[in-house]
Amino acid sequence: MKTELKEKIERIDRALNEYLPERDNAQSIIYTAMRYSLFAGGKRLRPILMLETAKMCGGSEENVMPFACAMEMIHTYSLIHDDLPAMDNDDLRRGMPTSHIKFGEAAAILAGDALLNKAFEIVSAAASDNAARSLRAISELAKSSGTEGMIGGQIIDMQSEGKDITLDELRHLHLLKTGAIIRSSCVIGAVLAGADKAETDAVDEFAANLGVAFQIRDDILDVEGSEAELGKPVGSDEKSDKNTYVKLAGLEKSKELALLYSQKAKKALECFGEKADFLLRLTDYLTARTS
Ligand code: IPE
Ligand code: IPE
Ligand code: MG
Ligand code: MG
Ligand code: MG
Repeated sequence: MKTELKEKIERIDRALNEYLPERDNAQSIIYTAMRYSLFAGGKRLRPILMLETAKMCGGSEENVMPFACAMEMIHTYSLIHDDLPAMDNDDLRRGMPTSHIKFGEAAAILAGDALLNKAFEIVSAAASDNAARSLRAISELAKSSGTEGMIGGQIIDMQSEGKDITLDELRHLHLLKTGAIIRSSCVIGAVLAGADKAETDAVDEFAANLGVAFQIRDDILDVEGSEAELGKPVGSDEKSDKNTYVKLAGLEKSKELALLYSQKAKKALECFGEKADFLLRLTDYLTARTS
């Protein structure tokens, strides 16, 4: 799996580099800051999910790549802002000092904003052989990163610091802050590939469960992971008195739940038969990941 992922990451990174080159102008520092976070590393999970879902549904990589790059830009912006002193106040990301440590808070805020704008610039200019599908994909991208998606989850996450919430409320939080864009990554892949409603619903069910499993694993790694492998600090959640699966359910139960959600995710792909092979293996890999 590692070698397969490496090859996919290289293709995505080449496309990202074309969409966001260095610029030599008065505002060149904003490009430097955007590229610093974008190319600091990162698993490229969301673009990989989008490209692989499209492939599973019979779509072409060429049509999907602009959306895959836009999604990674939105995800990277969310990480830059997530690390700010006003939010999680973390100083390490993707193995490097966080954007605000390197460039200062103002530039970090603007680099995040600029990545968000760049994402929509790319997808609205993307040539597609089907304008209706592109528009639906753009709408998914906007909704899932907004108030009913990632941003909604982030504000609930911040408001819940230091408070007692139930496991159901935590699942809802995880579904929004992490699940929403994992979900739209897969749904956009299906939509651009022209999948029918039943296929798109199956993909949605897969990704919603994968998103929760992925964030539970993230919560677990914040406790028992290593900073060197993760490229971000461990113990960040406890420091901010966050509500996590580990805090609410304990380590062992969290591991069981991550496995349960990943099994639910895999089950949703049964209708794709052998075509789901890569996504099934990726789900297992992510549930056991250490980085
Ligand atoms: C980190 O996402 C934030 C979460 C939603 C858990 P990733 O673990 O995908 O981070 P990168 O992209 O590999 O840096
Ligand atoms: C953040 O969740 C999810 C985002 C929307 C960025 P976390 O705060 O748990 O992510 P990490 O652990 O800092 O990567
Ligand atoms: Mg956070
Ligand atoms: Mg964080
Ligand atoms: Mg975390």
